[in-house]
Amino acid sequence: MINIPKGTKDVLPSQSYKWQYIEDKARAVAKRFCLDEIRTPAFEHTELFQRGVGETTDVVNKEMYTFEDKGGRSVTLKPEGTAGAVRLFIENGLFSSPLPVKTFYITPAFRYERPQSGRLREFHQFGIEVFGSAAPETDAEVILAASEFLKELGIKQVRLEINSIGCPECRAEYNKKLKEYFKPRLGELCETCRTRFESNPLRLLDCKEEECKKINAGAPSILESLCPDCARHFERVKELLKAQGVEFTVNPRIVRGLDYYTRTVFEFVSDRIGAQGTVCGGGRYDGLVSSLGGPQTPATGFAAGIERLMLLMENTGAEIPKPTKIRIYIAGMDESSRSAAFTIARELRQAGVAAEFDHMERSVKSQLKYADKVGAEYVAVIGEDELATGVVSLKKMATGEAVAVKINDLCAYLKKE
Ligand code: HAM
Repeated sequence: MINIPKGTKDVLPSQSYKWQYIEDKARAVAKRFCLDEIRTPAFEHTELFQRGVGETTDVVNKEMYTFEDKGGRSVTLKPEGTAGAVRLFIENGLFSSPLPVKTFYITPAFRYERPQSGRLREFHQFGIEVFGSAAPETDAEVILAASEFLKELGIKQVRLEINSIGCPECRAEYNKKLKEYFKPRLGELCETCRTRFESNPLRLLDCKEEECKKINAGAPSILESLCPDCARHFERVKELLKAQGVEFTVNPRIVRGLDYYTRTVFEFVSDRIGAQGTVCGGGRYDGLVSSLGGPQTPATGFAAGIERLMLLMENTGAEIPKPTKIRIYIAGMDESSRSAAFTIARELRQAGVAAEFDHMERSVKSQLKYADKVGAEYVAVIGEDELATGVVSLKKMATGEAVAVKINDLCAYLKKE
């Protein structure tokens, strides 16, 4: 027996309706927000993520599934969706089409992390990426799309936290201040923070170690270092969200784990799913398109982890309705009625009705037992009499009620019910 790789999950036939439900909601929200779907390959040239996501991030440093293919090229399974979306945007010249280019995706992503509840090595993201707009309205729209998506899933126990991490100019100033603050305290910080001190001091703010957290509490806030343009942008995003009734808190400790962000960053966080509480994260990334070889193009987006959403829904009682799989089960008594059941099922299917018949050569009694077990909504038994009269007794399993229906009228009857 060969087992499933650690950190991955099967979706079982009895559970796939939950995935379909969440994906349908994602697509419905995307449609209302006028987004077009994009699909990018599961693997890309490793360099795309090194340059796109950033050399100093954990994702690139520790978590990528990187390998050499048979042609000796280094390729990497996508650890997230944004870098591939940006490559697609540049490579296909979408910057020449009417802007903004508004896209969404549902994709698997791969990170070699220590698996735990809500943290997998293969997971799935619903993400949106909007290219071409620098306006704060677009930041607000992207946040609103995430918020509506979560609301539609019946998720209430999440809070929205937002921050601005400024542009490269104000961030350089802020990094200086951070270094001044942390330098005399370096000895008290964890090893990871000590290595990040030089390469990416902003990330020190997001350390989960208790000792580091205590020290972080006294660090200067980025919000005090924003340049006038970035400060105005952030004010406007907050105004727009307030005007739309979107509740949020400003958390100057949110810096995100990926290097490409500028200005607005945000996370939807829950206390109900353990340590991995961020169900959705995103923000603006105005420098990424140009740093990957495209023209200067502002952009913003988010990604929500589908497994974490599912966990949150389970833990908070947000229901996913189970659809009826078999609308009608047609049982056959003998050989000729079994063939008739086959034909009737086929005709019903052609008319769009989910119809099933016996595949196991079971007795009528066992066929009925099976139909009940698998939750068929209606059952009709076909025998000699039914074939002669062309009428069946159609039983509604939930109530036990039976009505006589002409075989030829079954489809119309089921469509009406
Ligand atoms: P991220 O915060 O790295 O951002 O991931 C987004 C979401 O993916 C997380 O909030 C979480 O729900 C889910 N996720 C991440 N890692 C795992 C894991 N190991 N297991 C299960 N779920 C996970 C991004 O990926 C950015 N590309 C988002 C973005 C799009 N920013 C702008 N546009």
